[in-house]
Amino acid sequence: MKLTGRDFLTLADFSREEIMYLLELSKDFKKKKMRNEPHAYFVGKTAALIFEKPSTRTRTSLEVACAHLGIHPIYMPRSETQLARGEPVKDFSRVLDRYVDIIIARVYKHSTLEEMAKYARIPVVNALSDYSHPLQALADYLTILEKKGFEDTKVAFVGDGDNNVAHSLLFGAAILGLEIRIGSPEGYTPSKEVLELANKLVKKNSSGAQIIVTNDPIEAVKDADVIYTDVWVSMGQEAEAKERIKVFEPFRVTWDLVKHAADDFIFMHCLPRHEEVTEEVFESDHSVVWDQAENRLHTAKAVIAALLS
Ligand code: CP
Ligand code: NVA
Repeated sequence: MKLTGRDFLTLADFSREEIMYLLELSKDFKKKKMRNEPHAYFVGKTAALIFEKPSTRTRTSLEVACAHLGIHPIYMPRSETQLARGEPVKDFSRVLDRYVDIIIARVYKHSTLEEMAKYARIPVVNALSDYSHPLQALADYLTILEKKGFEDTKVAFVGDGDNNVAHSLLFGAAILGLEIRIGSPEGYTPSKEVLELANKLVKKNSSGAQIIVTNDPIEAVKDADVIYTDVWVSMGQEAEAKERIKVFEPFRVTWDLVKHAADDFIFMHCLPRHEEVTEEVFESDHSVVWDQAENRLHTAKAVIAALLS
């Protein structure tokens, strides 16, 4: 499988075989780390890590992934670059292209990533945009694969169905062939364009995935094997916080809600968490959030290695 030189902006750009390859590669890197086996295959390479928004997991997992792979990462908060003073993204990208081997960026607008990818000849990786969070979804599916497998697995996403994390989880299910239910309040279900694309991915990959969108949180989690939630107010939506917290209240993941799921359901969250899940569910034995967070490291290595190989 050859992914050399590709951009990684959304899972929708990848086939079932390509995503399975990245998951297998992630498992290999996980084993290497467990066995303390050195894997610095890219000594002399450099990566630019551009961040327009805060990050705990993404930044750390990427910097550690680079260190283990022998790559020198350059952390560049946008505020400390000339972008902050109006340098055009297309100029910025063409300059970085002359210095580094890969650009990894967390941006507000997905179109910024598309512009970077258009003007840089080197791979551009999405470290979260308003539209998608594919590095997160890859770690999520590695976790689901390890804990439940993909056969007959029902995933329920409860909360903001039209945010970056929900989109990427949906695209992943559509490509890999899982049943996914999105339970969101009216006005916060995935957009028409996103659903159309997800349905296209099901057909293109002949995956047999089932996509169910509902405004009823109980219907979403009924007999589910995986319950996933994310913040109600994503970065950049702070002005809508009051309204969102009111609208999403019935979609909080509580013990009362999860009792409708399969007995051995797992609880997942990309983190950081706020009010969308109770302490009781989050800290329960069903919660796999730390394994999920750990998998960000192994999957980050797989993506970087595949694009640079
Ligand atoms: N899940 C995730 O992307 O976390 P950070 O915002 O901390 O990177
Ligand atoms: N939807 C959240 C994810 C954070 C990792 C956000 O964009 O803020």
